[in-house]
Amino acid sequence: MSNPVRYLRVSLIDQCNLACSYCKPSGHHTTNRRQTDREKFAFAIQTLYTIGVRKVRFTGGEPTVYRELTELIKDTSLLSPVIEIAMTSNGVLLRKLAPLLAKAGLGSVNISLDTLNRDKFKQITRVDALHKVIDGIYASKESIQKVKLNCVVMKGVNDDEFERMIRFADKVGIDIRFIEFMPTKHNSNHDSRFISGGTLRASLPFALTLDKTPKSSAARYYRSEELKIRVGFIDPVSHSFCGSCDRLRLASDGNLYGCLFSGSSFNLFDSLNMGVESAIEEVHKLVANKEFIGCQAVGKGRDDLPSFISIGG
Ligand code: 5AD
Repeated sequence: MSNPVRYLRVSLIDQCNLACSYCKPSGHHTTNRRQTDREKFAFAIQTLYTIGVRKVRFTGGEPTVYRELTELIKDTSLLSPVIEIAMTSNGVLLRKLAPLLAKAGLGSVNISLDTLNRDKFKQITRVDALHKVIDGIYASKESIQKVKLNCVVMKGVNDDEFERMIRFADKVGIDIRFIEFMPTKHNSNHDSRFISGGTLRASLPFALTLDKTPKSSAARYYRSEELKIRVGFIDPVSHSFCGSCDRLRLASDGNLYGCLFSGSSFNLFDSLNMGVESAIEEVHKLVANKEFIGCQAVGKGRDDLPSFISIGG
């Protein structure tokens, strides 16, 4: 049984100003050099709004690299006062952009940060930009209503910083979520780098207690007497949350997916050109055929796995 679709993730662009080794392969070339017109995204969002989408998250690549981001946020916020607008960003450009995006209607941002060590940041992302991300985090905290940090933990890479990351988030005063490293097309070392959320939780020198979490949330949140903030865990590998999934993913080329790990899609932009009603019918078909199988079950061959740079993490 599929859940009603409430949450749409839109990958605006498959380019990024960082080049994280686990996300963007060194030989990656964008499939979409010309940026997609914002009217196409706006029309797709408007159509999906009519069938129940109430939350839109802009992702990438890196969404702040998309030229018309501010305008698209404005278009989306004009659809309805009840629509939630969110973004996932690497934070590099947020020092300047955060207030502008907030003014346009952006209500929340998740900023990816895997390490607080400058050299390690450079090693993971291939760019020396940790200071920019930190500035971006503080600027976002100043202007955007909800700010969270996302950290992908990899064994032998940044698992030694687990507690330090929590302390940093607590100092800034924003929630942090730890995401299990998922298998994708580009991380052939996945198995040796994987560490579960449960192992991380058990390694902390203080106790965490489970907090109330909405059913549709991918993260489970914890609190501690030691902390002001909540610590979330997104454990797609060890704890599939597919059963409560209410999302769709639109890629910048117009392909609409039911899941990061599902190969099946159709082109929503093309379909909308043929007529709104038939496009909506195809969306319903895609939703009805969504498989709730978890990310472990897929990808017998690496080529079947998703590429986050295109579909968005
Ligand atoms: N496993 C888990 N999270 C990933 N992300 C990118 N690749 C992976 C992966 N293999 C995350 C990024 C960012 C979000 C967009 O997706 O770190 O937080």
